[in-house]
Amino acid sequence: MSVQPEQTVLVLDFGSQYTQLIARRIRDKRVYSVVHPFDLAPEKIRAIAPKAIILSGGPQSVYAESAPYCSREIFSLGIPLLGICYGMQLTAYLLDGRVEPATEREYGRAQIDVDANDSPLFANTPAHQRVWASHGDRILAAPPGFTVTASSPSAPIAAFEDRARACYGIQFHPEVTHSEAGSQLLENFLFGIAGCEPSWDLGDFRRRKVEEIREQVGDRNVIAAVSGGVDSSVAALLVAEAIGDQLTAIFVDNGVLRKHEAMQVVSRLSEGLGMHIVAVDGRQRFYEKLAGVEEPEVKRKRIGNEFIAVFEEEAKRIPNVEFLVQGTLYPDVIESVSIKGPSAVIKTHHNVGGLPEKMGLKLIEPVRELFKDEVRQLGIELGLEEEFVWRHPFPGPGLAVRILGEVNAERVEVLQNADEIVIDEIRRAGLYREISQAFAVLLPVKSVGVMGDERTYENVLAIRAVTTTDFMTADWFRMPHDVLDRMARRIVNEVRGVNRVVYDVSSKPPSTIEWE
Ligand code: XMP
Repeated sequence: MSVQPEQTVLVLDFGSQYTQLIARRIRDKRVYSVVHPFDLAPEKIRAIAPKAIILSGGPQSVYAESAPYCSREIFSLGIPLLGICYGMQLTAYLLDGRVEPATEREYGRAQIDVDANDSPLFANTPAHQRVWASHGDRILAAPPGFTVTASSPSAPIAAFEDRARACYGIQFHPEVTHSEAGSQLLENFLFGIAGCEPSWDLGDFRRRKVEEIREQVGDRNVIAAVSGGVDSSVAALLVAEAIGDQLTAIFVDNGVLRKHEAMQVVSRLSEGLGMHIVAVDGRQRFYEKLAGVEEPEVKRKRIGNEFIAVFEEEAKRIPNVEFLVQGTLYPDVIESVSIKGPSAVIKTHHNVGGLPEKMGLKLIEPVRELFKDEVRQLGIELGLEEEFVWRHPFPGPGLAVRILGEVNAERVEVLQNADEIVIDEIRRAGLYREISQAFAVLLPVKSVGVMGDERTYENVLAIRAVTTTDFMTADWFRMPHDVLDRMARRIVNEVRGVNRVVYDVSSKPPSTIEWE
């Protein structure tokens, strides 16, 4: 049985930072979409049988030595096609239009004039519209059979189409909100041109997934590691819905969680939603492994290894286990051609990687077709609270990478208390959803202060808050001064061991989001 709906839109990725956003926007319109690398073979495309194909943007020129090309055959499959930015330039290039390599990239806000008032792509959109443009190359002539449908001062051919073969190109990004009619254009393409139906539905997905899991598991047992994060919780809940107590979820308190987190996870999933959970208090074991360790990568490794050790011990107690649940999301599955920032490889992300092979388990990844937004929505349908599903991400190695220098129970407590205040004040100010990630960092620095008549020599604490869409780049959040003021006052007054608070105003790059 397949969970794939009947109608799929294929997005071919030419390396744009917006590729996944295109796929998400399509799903928002309730059409299922998948992302594949640009060179996906035509026979594989036929096997997917998409209702439409979108060629994404990309940073290259079609004349670059390593320029990504799709097969020319794609244009004669009889499948409606939309090329966006690089995707349009490539369409022009491969179908014998004229493309001129540009010396400079034009990027950002632009205005286009729609010249064809009967273009199905531009139906119900303004004649003059604001768009988010991006082009290196310039199209000098549309391919034979195409008509030019829009122009802008810097791109005389800003859109073209060959209606007979349902092939369209636009020199701007309809997927970003800066393109005022972008959403309407996507709808025009999906529903008006490609004949898609808005039928992608998470409720359906849930039902089909539950059946699929039941069939796959039979009468055997399944284990899951729940970390307290959204993805692992939703994955485990879906499996629990399918097989009940044949699933045992293992939750390990590694001593570097947020304040009250351990208790909350168990009460949310076990008492609240009836999941069968084994909670392990591993705090001492983890602190022993972390004693004297200052190097961030060593912390990550030790925590990862200890987690595996604890998890294996617990798993051994459960008979007849054949499967392990993992909360892998669609963005982890997409084979990306994007040029990623260095942080993608610098930090070894801690998860249960390697565990299934080591334990001879098969994987169940019930949310691997879903984007994060969809996992949140599904989480709510499965009974998780709104506040929980919108939580900021929390790293696997937890507070250990936010305590610079040695990690021990005492320093964890200082940071937990400060972190709680930071999040509490952000929530009170109604800023939690506006910020992508916020937290406190305990620095390995002491500074002088006065409290009453006493001179103090205590810890310095940093507050970090960032906004980002993909966590690959991020900007520091312009936190209102009164909110900063309340946080700082409360931390210095209420958290023993801190006498100075600073705010981090670095963006990523060149900094990273975490301090370690
Ligand atoms: P950086 O610091 O690389 O963080 O800009 C990007 C995102 O990744 C998270 N992060 C981690 N997540 N294990 C994780 O599970 C890790 O070791 C780890 N290090 C960073 C970070 O919180 C941010 O969301």
